[in-house]
Amino acid sequence: MNIDGKAWRTIWLEPDGCSVGVIDQTQLPHRFSTRTLHSCDQAAEAIRTMVVRGAPLIGVTGAYGLMLALQVDASDRALDLAFDQLNATRPTAVNLRWALERVRDRVRPLPEAERAAAARQEAAAIADEDVAMCEAIGDHGLKIFQELAAARPPGRRAEPFRVLTHCNAGWLATVDWGTALAPIYKAHRAGINIHVWVDETRPRNQGASLTAYELGREGVPHTVIVDNAGGHLMQHGQVDAVIVGTDRTTRRGDVCNKIGTYLKALAAHDNQVPFYVALPASTIDWSLEDGVAEIPIEARSADEVTAIQGRVISGASAGELVQVQLTPDGSAGFNPAFDVTPARLVSGLITERGVAPASEAGLRGLYGNG
Ligand code: MRU
Repeated sequence: MNIDGKAWRTIWLEPDGCSVGVIDQTQLPHRFSTRTLHSCDQAAEAIRTMVVRGAPLIGVTGAYGLMLALQVDASDRALDLAFDQLNATRPTAVNLRWALERVRDRVRPLPEAERAAAARQEAAAIADEDVAMCEAIGDHGLKIFQELAAARPPGRRAEPFRVLTHCNAGWLATVDWGTALAPIYKAHRAGINIHVWVDETRPRNQGASLTAYELGREGVPHTVIVDNAGGHLMQHGQVDAVIVGTDRTTRRGDVCNKIGTYLKALAAHDNQVPFYVALPASTIDWSLEDGVAEIPIEARSADEVTAIQGRVISGASAGELVQVQLTPDGSAGFNPAFDVTPARLVSGLITERGVAPASEAGLRGLYGNG
């Protein structure tokens, strides 16, 4: 995607062939900066502290993290330790385990001398495949947007097609294109008059900071709203569709996404607003059925609830990025990072293979036995 006229991916192999570049997402939208990861420890830290985030991007970073580990020590023991270290960084997005297993299974049968190079190839392949899958999701989602836009009453067709999204499931959450935002980019480029309601997405504000940043760079009209505004907008006919990503999708189509997604799905259901979820195959966990009972939900630091990061607007420190405290000293915070939306609230799953009902039959229809 474009930043000031230059095409970027979120992660890349540096020209030295043995270190990895990433966009530092903790500084956006106020500062665009990049970091170079030289070691498995640094890759794990980048995932844990959300320098990189979003399910598909976490997976690709994990894959490159194994490469970084194997460049130093390619023994079985080092491979297993690096796998466990990276896999423990964030528990909810299944893409991480999926990508780590893919690299581990590729390199394990090889002689030690060949493992780092093979890991490099596999990580690069995962990254390229992610771009292709996300672009295909964009094409399938575009068709749904076209159908929904055309199905509006004739008197409303001249108005923008209004889509609400939660968190950031854009190109910053993947390698390029994004999942939920890919159809939005495709629609905008196809000349559809589209407008995006962007949930700010407390506590870390991925909507206000990252989704708004992405949409602004691509020139997509958008408005940031507080997380609690979505239901009100739906009641007043201001939302034509909701589209979100997912960090883990069970075989029956339950989806686990950023905390607050479930409430948007409930509001959409109550107001007959279509609620779509966009995902690549790497997000499906075929071993799980009941998302509420079985998906591990990451609990992050309470500091993310009791404080907030922003840029100082005026005064001597203007322009600095600072943390400010929101709550009284001594108030506890609790910070579950994801929630589960049951399949019954999902209008359809938009995948790289097409659109499926949110059900085991729907997913099997696209993927067979996985
Ligand atoms: O905690 P984050 O920022 O990693 O959460 C990201 C999301 O919830 C996305 O919606 C999800 O990863 C799907 S992304 C393509």
